[in-house]
Amino acid sequence: MKRVRFILSIAVLLAATSCTAQTETDKRVDELLSKMTLQEKIGQMNQLSGGAELKNEAAAGNVGSILNCTDVKAINIVQKAAVEESRLGIPILVARDVIHGFHTIFPIPLGQAATFDPAIVEKGARISAVEATASGVRWTFSPMLDVARDPRWGRVAEGSGEDPYLDVQMGVAMVKGYQGDDLSDPTSMAACIKHFVGYGAAEGGRDYNSTMISERSLRNTYFPAFKATAEAGAATLMTSFNEIDGVPSTGNKWLLKDVLRGEWGWDGMIVTDWNSAGEMIAHGFSRDLKHTAEQAVNAGVDMDMMSYGFIQYIEELVKEGKISEKEIDRAVRNILKLKFELGLFENPYVDETASARVDYAPEHLEAAKQCAVESAILLQNKKNVLPLDKAKTILVTGPLADAPYEQMGTWVFDGQKEHTVTPLTALREEYNVIWEPGLKYSRDENTKDFAKVRKAAAKADAVVVFVGEESILSGEAHSLSNLDLQGAQSELIAEMSKTGKPVVVVVMAGRPLTIERDLANCDAMLYSFHPGTMGGPALADLIKGKAVPSGKLPMTFLRDAGQAPFYYNHNNTGRPNNGTETLLKDIPVEAGQTSLGCTSFYLDTGYGPLFPFGYGLSYTTFEYGAPVLEKAELSENDVIRVSFDLKNKGKYEATEVAQLYVQDCVGSVVRPVKELKRFERITLAPGETKTVTFELPVAELAFWNFDMEYVVEPGDFRLWVAGDSASGEPVSFVVK
Ligand code: GLC
Repeated sequence: MKRVRFILSIAVLLAATSCTAQTETDKRVDELLSKMTLQEKIGQMNQLSGGAELKNEAAAGNVGSILNCTDVKAINIVQKAAVEESRLGIPILVARDVIHGFHTIFPIPLGQAATFDPAIVEKGARISAVEATASGVRWTFSPMLDVARDPRWGRVAEGSGEDPYLDVQMGVAMVKGYQGDDLSDPTSMAACIKHFVGYGAAEGGRDYNSTMISERSLRNTYFPAFKATAEAGAATLMTSFNEIDGVPSTGNKWLLKDVLRGEWGWDGMIVTDWNSAGEMIAHGFSRDLKHTAEQAVNAGVDMDMMSYGFIQYIEELVKEGKISEKEIDRAVRNILKLKFELGLFENPYVDETASARVDYAPEHLEAAKQCAVESAILLQNKKNVLPLDKAKTILVTGPLADAPYEQMGTWVFDGQKEHTVTPLTALREEYNVIWEPGLKYSRDENTKDFAKVRKAAAKADAVVVFVGEESILSGEAHSLSNLDLQGAQSELIAEMSKTGKPVVVVVMAGRPLTIERDLANCDAMLYSFHPGTMGGPALADLIKGKAVPSGKLPMTFLRDAGQAPFYYNHNNTGRPNNGTETLLKDIPVEAGQTSLGCTSFYLDTGYGPLFPFGYGLSYTTFEYGAPVLEKAELSENDVIRVSFDLKNKGKYEATEVAQLYVQDCVGSVVRPVKELKRFERITLAPGETKTVTFELPVAELAFWNFDMEYVVEPGDFRLWVAGDSASGEPVSFVVK
């Protein structure tokens, strides 16, 4: 009994200490809050885009945060005005979209997801924070956690793809990387989990469009990454542009107060997206700008990005009793708490010499290269054309071979193309290179130089064609209805297929494109989601064989954009694929009226996608042994342990991303045909076999059921271990 009492006393002391530490910050917040006028409080809730030109607003206490300024001198000018001229000297919080690197640019987040390597993603986020904070940025609007199942939506580039579990792993890694162990560390910057919520489900993949998502789908698919990153300590959250079933997220009290604050107990700071408060007028949810401010603040928003509604109308709204000062204090408390936690009151200014010491540091570039290597996905490799380890002279062609700006991808404000190493530059270190672009940019339709390219191919041992998208063709407000390669890129590939030389195609894009016809015209294809500053050396190493592809698809690849939305973790429907599909070419003329196959498919493209989620080849082949369950009958408190042998059957040391999928066969609501529950990168020497074991608590099979309870429902389950979401043979188990 004495021991129990001793443990309890320690627990009480620890609790008190942690509360004391938290009270310390809260005490500072409350003390400052008590001195503030209503107008000064409203000033803190106002975020403006700009730099030195905002110094008078800062001196007047009308700006709580600025974004889009990384000129360190300008930042210090605005900060000096806030700290030394405003009545209370509250420092400004400097924000920036540091989405996949600051100066050293990493692969776009969709590419980082393709690594299935949270460690390299966390490292990249940490490096991003070190470089960004050296330039005065202490708050980034990242990670973007929007589950996306429609590649027509340009913003798939910024997220982790279609799977909630992968989204969680990547999002938590980024939050940890940005924020480090202590927000007050000068190299830490506050993360911002966005866009809450459901933005990726925009109708038709048309950005900003309506979403119709049930509460159960929100909870089972769109919430998990936000909940996990909130629990991981994400300091801020951004509301999304879209409305869900008619309610814009920026005015959605159920989302921001009931779920985020109430259910999850998250106490971070909520900022709107750019004028997303003001846009509630266009949505038809608000009468005017004043009404948007009333709705957003009462829904739980703390800070207004660029609608000017808060700064203009909140004082009036408080006087009219439409917003209580209690709500204002709640918002300002969240803002001040963050500023205290970041140490801004102690260290408000940026060292104007710091960035020169950290930008593009060799270890940063090396990490960016490693991430780019791991993010590349080998989609096809006929006759093992890759790696080109015997070729001496290669023809390099295509508009993305030497496009230092495009290679960095979307959402790059501070990456400098002068630092980008392109594939052309890197390949010249490895081969005798003949360089004939063939096309000037990805949308170029002018084929006048194709003859030159064809002639040059005659002198080469192999042809490498770099195609894809200019960076502006993905990202925000860049939805596409057609996902084929733009311009005459497919024609260029087809021309190269006539040369009789081995043809390798490398695609650099911000999204999954429909590249089926291009695959038919080449031997090998590497897919690289805009790989960033060091994409060239990474791709050169992969082409040469100094590195072996290990990337896996974070999104399903379609045969045609008309198949969208398409995702692996779909429901089975009442008429699933039964293996018989009737295609257009099979239908006789004047065919009698029939339901033609009676299942859910397309007459022109059939059932399947081009490539499934989780797919990716290697220069070796991996063989999976049958999964062996430790137990086939489990209770809710058990842990599923499944082991399997993984063998490297080839001649290259290589890494495989082994994936664990589970199906809940029968539920009180229908369940997806399978769901990713674990993955692991496993490196094996040639011929090596390793026994791999995945552990999965049965509790992680919980879902929001018919009664909207988060439970594990007893019953039959199936489980796969495989190299992608469409492979492997299942084993069964029962939860009692
Ligand atoms: C944009 C984006 C958001 C970004 C913000 C600030 O419209 O939706 O992701 O962080 O504005 O640039």
